[in-house]
Amino acid sequence: MHIRSRVIVMLCVFALAGVALTACGSSSEPATAPLPDEGVVGQQMLDGETLVGERCIVCHDLQRVDDASYDDVGWEATVDRMIGKGAELTEEEQAAVIEYLSNR
Ligand code: HEC
Repeated sequence: MHIRSRVIVMLCVFALAGVALTACGSSSEPATAPLPDEGVVGQQMLDGETLVGERCIVCHDLQRVDDASYDDVGWEATVDRMIGKGAELTEEEQAAVIEYLSNR
């Protein structure tokens, strides 16, 4: 009887140690938690390159865009002009496109 209860005590100690280890293990998880956040940020940010490939090939091909080289002011004026012609871009998309074109 005595030996049995000691075994039970030992098992309890091991079980508690196991819980403690598991707790420590899971406490290190927040270190990798920021990843999903970055994913959300990535989704919210507009990809200028993709937008150019989708919206700037409606009236002419991409070659026309590739051949041109402006700074951000020049691209702002050009993209503004394209919107005047009918290019469909929201303000955010326009900013992303100008950002991409003037830094490529
Ligand atoms: C609604 C039609 C249309 C769309 C959409 C369009 N363009 Fe144009 N684009 C034109 C026309 C027409 C011309 C030629 C006449 C001119 O240059 O004004 C042109 C010419 C250009 C030129 C050469 C002339 C210059 O100013 O350097 C560039 C560069 C250009 N477009 C960039 C873009 C970009 C970047 C986009 C996407 C944001 C875009 N275009 C979308 C109609 C369009």
